[in-house]
Amino acid sequence: MGTTGSIQSLLKHASEQLEKISDSAYLDAEILLAHCLGKNRTYLHTWSEKELDANQLKEFRNLIEKRLTDYPIAYLLGTKPFWTMDLTVTPDVLIPRPETELLVEIALDKIRNIKNPQILDLGTGSGAIALALASERPDANVVATDYSEKALAVANYNALELKLNKQVCFIKSNWFDDIKASEDLFDLIVSNPPYIDPEDLHLKGTIRYEPIQALVADDHGMSDLERIIQKSHSFLKRNGWIVLEHGFDQAEKTSVLLSNNNFKKTKSVSDLNNNLRVTMGCK
Ligand SMILES: C[S@@+](CC[C@H](N)C(=O)[O-])C[C@H]1O[C@@H](n2cnc3c(N)ncnc32)[C@H](O)[C@@H]1O
Repeated sequence: MGTTGSIQSLLKHASEQLEKISDSAYLDAEILLAHCLGKNRTYLHTWSEKELDANQLKEFRNLIEKRLTDYPIAYLLGTKPFWTMDLTVTPDVLIPRPETELLVEIALDKIRNIKNPQILDLGTGSGAIALALASERPDANVVATDYSEKALAVANYNALELKLNKQVCFIKSNWFDDIKASEDLFDLIVSNPPYIDPEDLHLKGTIRYEPIQALVADDHGMSDLERIIQKSHSFLKRNGWIVLEHGFDQAEKTSVLLSNNNFKKTKSVSDLNNNLRVTMGCK
C-alpha cells in the first residue's frame, strides 16, 4: 500500500490484497477503513477522493496487515452485531454467529406463554444468547454461566452497556457444578456449547484465533453436549425445554441423547443453509 492515497485508491489496493484470504475483500476493506475514520461506509462513497492523514493511514495499514493473517474482522473492530445488539468482543470470547440467532428465535417461542420465565444459558461467552433473550423478554430472569472468567468479564460488560445487568446474573461454573438445583428450577435451558471435533480441519481458518475451549469437545465434538443433556433434566421445571445448538451432522446424536435422558417431543430445526443446527426436547 502507498504512503498516501485517496479513499478510493486505498480501497482498491487493500481489497486486491485481501482477495487472497477473504471472499468479501472489498467489504472487509470498506469496514476497516470506515472504522479508522470513525465514519460509516456511506461516507467512503460520498468522499471517495478524500485523502487520509498520516495517523489514519498508519492505522489502516496495520489493520489490513493483521487481516491478511486471517485475523477476524470482529476482533479488529472489537464489536459484532448479534440479534438487535452490537456486542463487544475480544479474543477471549467466541465471535457470535448469525446461526445462533436461530436458537434465540426457538427459545423465545418456547417461553412465549410463560410469565417471568427463568432461563439458564450455559457457556455464555460474550453473553450473546442470554442478552438477546433478556432484551426481548424484560420479565425474564436469566442465569448465564461460563467457566472462563475472561469471557464472563466481557459478558458482564455487554450486560452493563445494554442496561440488562439487573436481568442477567453471570456465574462462573463448570457446566452445572455451581448452579443450585433444589429451589430455582428453570423454564428453559439454552446452550451453544463447544461441539467441534478436535480433528476438524476447519480449525485452520479464521477460527484459529478464537478460544479453543469455546470450540472443541472430545468424543467427535459430542462430550459437552452429552454432559449438558445428562444433567439438564433435574434443573428444569415440568414441561420446561432445553434448546441446544450443535454441528450440522450432530442432530441425530443429540436427539438420541435427549431421548435417552427422558426428554420428550425432541425436534431438530434447520438453518438457512438447510443444515439441522438446533435440537430441542421437553421435560
Ligand atoms: C461455542 S461458545 C458459545 C458462546 C456464546 N454462547 C455464543 O453463542 O456466542 C461455548 C462457550 O462455552 C464455554 N465453556 C466451554 N466449556 C465449558 C464448561 N465446562 N463449563 C462452562 N462453560 C464452558 C466457553 O468458554 C465458551 O464461552
